[in-house]
Parts: sequence; structure tokens; C-alpha cells
Amino acid sequence: MKRDDLFMKLLIKNIKTLVQAEENPRLKVAGADMKVLPCIENAWLAIEEDKIVDFGKMDDFPGITDWSGLQVIDATDKLVFPSWCDSHTHIVFAASREQEFVDRINGLTYQQIAHRGGGILNSAKKLREASEDELVESALKRLNEVMMQGTGAIEIKSGYGLSVEAELKMLRVIKKLKALSPLTIKATFLGAHAVPADIPNLQGFKSLEGFQKKEKYIQLIINEMLPQIAAENLADYCDVFCEHGYYTAEETINILTAAKSYGLIPKVHAEQLSNSGGVKAGVSVGAISVDHLEYVNDEDIIALKNSQTMPTILPGAQFFLQEPFPPARKIIDAGLPVAIASDYNPGSSPSGNMNFMVSLACIQYKMTPEEAINAATINSAYAMGLSQTHGSIAIGKQANVFITKEISSYAFLPYSFASNNIETVIINGNIIHH
Ligand code: NIG
Ligand code: FE
Repeated sequence: MKRDDLFMKLLIKNIKTLVQAEENPRLKVAGADMKVLPCIENAWLAIEEDKIVDFGKMDDFPGITDWSGLQVIDATDKLVFPSWCDSHTHIVFAASREQEFVDRINGLTYQQIAHRGGGILNSAKKLREASEDELVESALKRLNEVMMQGTGAIEIKSGYGLSVEAELKMLRVIKKLKALSPLTIKATFLGAHAVPADIPNLQGFKSLEGFQKKEKYIQLIINEMLPQIAAENLADYCDVFCEHGYYTAEETINILTAAKSYGLIPKVHAEQLSNSGGVKAGVSVGAISVDHLEYVNDEDIIALKNSQTMPTILPGAQFFLQEPFPPARKIIDAGLPVAIASDYNPGSSPSGNMNFMVSLACIQYKMTPEEAINAATINSAYAMGLSQTHGSIAIGKQANVFITKEISSYAFLPYSFASNNIETVIINGNIIHH
């Protein structure tokens, strides 16, 4: 997996287009600026150890003075991109759910499947039975899969545990993944993903009424999970599924306010299946991102205008569940930024392929290739607090990039949807071979 230790320096030369190359690094891009994608034609890129150290035009290439430990890649007719940043995933799970996929083909809705104990509760049942080692092993495979598809930084949520024990287990799995995977990983606590039907070892829980279960479970989140998560430093963010039948806007605010007092930064699953107040709740607690947005309305867009919150769209989940399109064009045209993430999970987006997410955003939501690439790099880096180190080609940033096959332009990437245009993946300065 690692570059030969003799080679500490890497030079990529004759690059047809060096994409998202920033002289003056930005933390995010918004509104009309999203149409601008800074690129250098006929370029070179220099990497030392795990960092980008320099880049420029071949015409101005200073030449190589010291060949020791230098590996050179010729990228003639190929493009170099910063790795995708995937700011929203649920890649720790115990089992796939293709039976529910078939049930939906046969006419059931996502909510109907959830009501009869499928959906998130189905994943929770399986996850509780799985060992930490099994979960680490299967999640590592998925991480390797998305790494070869160009992802270089990724956020991973808990939320299939739904008990103190199982949520902590999930977060410990994510902590292990941070140590084992070369990808940059952020961890999010999503205890409030659903209300559990039962909690093993918690006497009397199963026989409570629905509203009492939720009350009790929120108490567990606030009084037991959050303190332990903070004590073991298991999460960077806290997320809530704000939706009818899940958590109300008020409950979302209460949980996220408690999370903030433990140093966790808020995120929200907002307006996915209905307009439920998740965007406004997120903005009111200073969420770093609000994600999904299929049912966002004009008031939500106004609320976002007065915030630092990143509106994040998840084209895979919208496509897979065939929900309405999120109004990405309207959000950008209001002067706001947009980020793209995959939502990789077994229920609503069983793919973490960011190339396809970018294609969907262009084809379905009429985002331009420049806007979609900005959304899946610098803005999605922002949505997980990584835009100072990831999400663009800039001096001092992490050397996470990919080299395409011979393709005609960066627009070819979203255009040739579902094709694999990536030839070489470089993570932390190491060339990762298939
Ligand atoms: O982001 N919306 C809630 N959570 C996930 C789906 C989880 C599941 O179905 O397992 C989502 O779409
Ligand atoms: Fe999600």
C-alpha cells in the first residue's frame, strides 16, 4: 500500500489540467463563485512526504535539481483532482438491505417499511449482533472501495446502535477505522437516528408507549451517551434525524444543545422526507451543515443566508428513494454555498461513489460541472471542518489527489456518468495500487 520508503518526493508532470488549484485557499465557495473552478493547464504538482509542496505551469517548471528519493509520474493527457471529500456517510453497518429495495420496487414506501420494523431499526438489530471486529472489517472494505473511487476524506456516523452500548460500539469502530485507514476520517454521533423499539438490558423499555420510549431514549442520549462519548473522545460531531416520525425540531435543538456543551459540533438530517424544521433548528444551534434538503422551502433558504451552515445535498439518497430534487439551483442562486456528499448507507444510498453523486447533481439538479466539483471538494471539506487541509490543491494541504485516465476535460467526469475515469489514487503522498 505504501510508496517505497526510498521515495519521499513525488512529482506529477505534464498534467493536462490541474483541477481546483488554489493560489489563495478559500474555506468554502458560495453563490456565483461556485461557477468558477480554478485550474492550471499543462501543469506540474510536487508532493513531499504527505503534503502538497508546490505546483505551477510546465512552462515555468524550475527543473529537478535533486533526484534523490524522487518518483516522477507523467500525466500527459490526464487530469489531476484533489480527492473527493465525502462529508456524510453511514458506512459502518452489519448487513445490506436489498430486500427492502425489492419491497419498494413492489410498491411500499420507505416510511411503510420503517413502520413495520424495517429501515433503520432493521440495521440496528443486525448491528447489535455484530462484533466490533466484524464491523471494522466490513467498513474497511467499503473505505477501500470509495478510496479507489477518489474519496480522500470522509465523515462516518453512528446511529445503527440505538442503545448506550451499541452506539459506543459503533463509535469505537469508527475510532479504529481512523487508525487503520489512510483516509482522513471524522466521526459523528447520530444516536438520534430513530427511536429504538427495544433496548436490550433496559428493563421495562419495550412495554413503554411510543412517546415515553422517545422521552426515555433522549434522556439516555443526553445523560449517558454524550458524557461517555466526550470522556472517550469518540466523536467530532453530533447529528439528529429531524423528521416526522423521528425527532421534532425542538428535540433536535435540545439534543444538539446538550451535545455542544460536550464540545460536539451540530449537524442535522434535515427536510429529507418532509419539511420538518431541521434547517432552522440546525441554523439556530450553529450547525456546520444541514443535509438532504429535498423539502427545503424559501424560509429555510433565508435562514441559511444568515448562517455559516453548509447546505449539503445527498444525490444518492434522493435518487435511490426517488424523492423530489433538492432545489440546489435555487440555493446557489440565492448566493449560498452547496456541498455534495454520498450518504453511503444500506437503506437509502448503497453507494459511496462520489463521481456518480457529482454526475447526478449535474444531470438532475442542473448544477454546472464547476459547481458540482466545488461542492464535492472544498465545500464538502468545509462541511466536516477540513477545508484548511483538504478539498483543493494548495500548498501545505494533505497530498490526497487522484489522476484520471486520458480524458478530454473535467466536464467529461460528470458527463460520462457511472464510468470509472480514475487511474491513480494518491493518499497522504502514497500511490495506492489496486
Ligand atoms: O441519511 N435519513 C436518515 N438516515 C439515512 C438512512 C438510514 C437508513 O435507511 O438506514 C439517510 O438517508
Ligand atoms: Fe444520512
